[in-house]
Amino acid sequence: MAIRSILKLPDPILRKRAKLVERVDADLRRLMNDMLASMYDAPGIGLAAPQVGILRRLIVMDPAKDEAPKNPVIMVNPEILARSEEMRTHEEGCLSIPEITAEIERPAKTRVSYIDREGKKQEMELEGIWSTLVQHEIDHLNGVLFIDYLSRLKRDMIVKKFTKAKRADAL
Ligand code: NI
Repeated sequence: MAIRSILKLPDPILRKRAKLVERVDADLRRLMNDMLASMYDAPGIGLAAPQVGILRRLIVMDPAKDEAPKNPVIMVNPEILARSEEMRTHEEGCLSIPEITAEIERPAKTRVSYIDREGKKQEMELEGIWSTLVQHEIDHLNGVLFIDYLSRLKRDMIVKKFTKAKRADAL
């Protein structure tokens, strides 16, 4: 397992659409393991392949708190089949946008189809933090970030801050 570096705003890869995974093989399983290790190392509760520079439809999630046993879920080619009308608000953050959080409203329940690490097709109902998380991570596969749900003014301020920080780093 290797810890991969996580791309930060305003890296243009974060804005690209990821491609479908064609098969679950040893290379993909290595990537899954690296992504989980990188997520736990960060530490974070979710990570999508584009965040480590791989434009493939693969996400890993584990919202378990520090003391709780690890409970990772890995989804290949996840797709949202249904969303509840009921909404929930959660203070979201993102490993690609460090130190920024915002309350985001999303459907409280979702039904998702995906392929698991053994290559089998699965369906799952998610609610609570899991529902928020799966939607946040699937957004990454479509080049969408949680700041896109904020007002344009707020979003522009955040992007500007990270663009400036990057420029300062380059000097
Ligand atoms: Ni994120």
